[in-house]
Amino acid sequence: MTQPNMETFVSLCKRRGFVFQSSEIYGGLGGFWDYGPLGVELKNNIKRNWWRSMVQLRDDVVGIETSIIMNPRVWEASGHIATFADPMSDCKDCKRRWRTDDIAINDKGERHCPECGGELTGARMFNLMFKTFVGPVEDEASVVYLRPETAQGMFVNFENVLTTTRRKLPFGIAQIGRSFRNEITPGNFIFRDREFEQMEMEYFVMPGTDEEWHDRWIEDRFNWWLALGVRNQNLRIREHTKEELSHYSKRTVDIEYDFPFAGFAEIEGIANRTDFDLKKHAEFAGRTLQYFDEATGQQVVPYVIEPAMGIDRCFLTLLIDSYAEEEVRGEKRTVLRLHHDLAPIKVAVLPLSRNEQLVPPARRVWDLLRPHFMTQYDDAQSIGRRYRRQDEIGTPYGVTIDFETLEDDAVTIRDRDSMEQSRVPIANLVPVLREKLDPSLPA
Ligand code: GAP
Repeated sequence: MTQPNMETFVSLCKRRGFVFQSSEIYGGLGGFWDYGPLGVELKNNIKRNWWRSMVQLRDDVVGIETSIIMNPRVWEASGHIATFADPMSDCKDCKRRWRTDDIAINDKGERHCPECGGELTGARMFNLMFKTFVGPVEDEASVVYLRPETAQGMFVNFENVLTTTRRKLPFGIAQIGRSFRNEITPGNFIFRDREFEQMEMEYFVMPGTDEEWHDRWIEDRFNWWLALGVRNQNLRIREHTKEELSHYSKRTVDIEYDFPFAGFAEIEGIANRTDFDLKKHAEFAGRTLQYFDEATGQQVVPYVIEPAMGIDRCFLTLLIDSYAEEEVRGEKRTVLRLHHDLAPIKVAVLPLSRNEQLVPPARRVWDLLRPHFMTQYDDAQSIGRRYRRQDEIGTPYGVTIDFETLEDDAVTIRDRDSMEQSRVPIANLVPVLREKLDPSLPA
């Protein structure tokens, strides 16, 4: 399968209601996106799938949801105020602004403006956190930040979760939520945004067992991507060099996807954050953030392994990887072979035509299916075109109501991938579809 041309793909996302530019009627805003009716379904399905595998199916992880704006001391302690910055340079000629380390170095060891070849200013550090104020007075004392990662919500709640759940090490705290970064150069569609959503889990372990747990999480997380159907040849694992490690990390491994616009790029990071965050918060908050180890009778500061990913990048990966253009019996079709659990619409209800005799049974089938599956009713244009439209948005099954239905009370189920059709009595439709979809799907 070939990867899509990016322009075709972005236009499909807009045309079919997956992703729109934020505030588009005003010309948009760089790095901000809206998710349309199909996009929000896919996003919710990604979140539910992650939560199921990281929280529901495990006996050692609990979830939380913390506020986006936190006490600004959090970001002093975490090191984000001091170090969460990218180098930035301006072109002296065309005045465009660049993230310095994104610009290639030429054979003379210099960087010139990628736009016009002009001379660049020296790099200065630009902090990526968005600032705002709490309360009516806009002074230094009321400055707060929009969180650039969800992780700190877990660290500052370590004690709360430990005492309320009486967990033993190792255990994890997971969260899904918005994060904000004032990226210098947002771009590549929804790949690098200024507002995005993260799914992160902080896994607290005994010091000394951290390296082993890190390896286990790298493997688990890689397998999660494979289980969603992302092709192995498009994924790779990349070790961070010493120079690029975050200030809190002893070792970080990225899972990367081979994007058509950028080559291999990060979709998830799995970091060994050591005891850095808990120690810093203990110091800044004047608390002891420790765990009492009954085996040794000692207080310990746990180490932390963190699988961290962005939903928007995951969304992009899944759509690109499942996209295919095919020729079937001389006819072209575009199909999203999305994993059933992720498909925004599970079943399309398609009366053969708008003939008035077909409307009542088609409505009856639709009413029957709606409580069980996300459905779409479509009766516009020829049945062939409607199959194509459903293929293009990844709907696994189409149910067609035809004139035979009036005689035998049965319908035809069409499979998105094989395009095979089978006849099923309406009375059996829900269990048959449930079985075909995924027996593990939540009801
Ligand atoms: N708590 C660790 C952390 O935030 P990160 O590597 O900076 O680590 C984790 O971010 C994930 O969040 C990335 O792998 C990526 O999927 C997503 N992410 C980060 N910055 C992003 C941005 N500007 N736009 C979209 N997703 C982003």
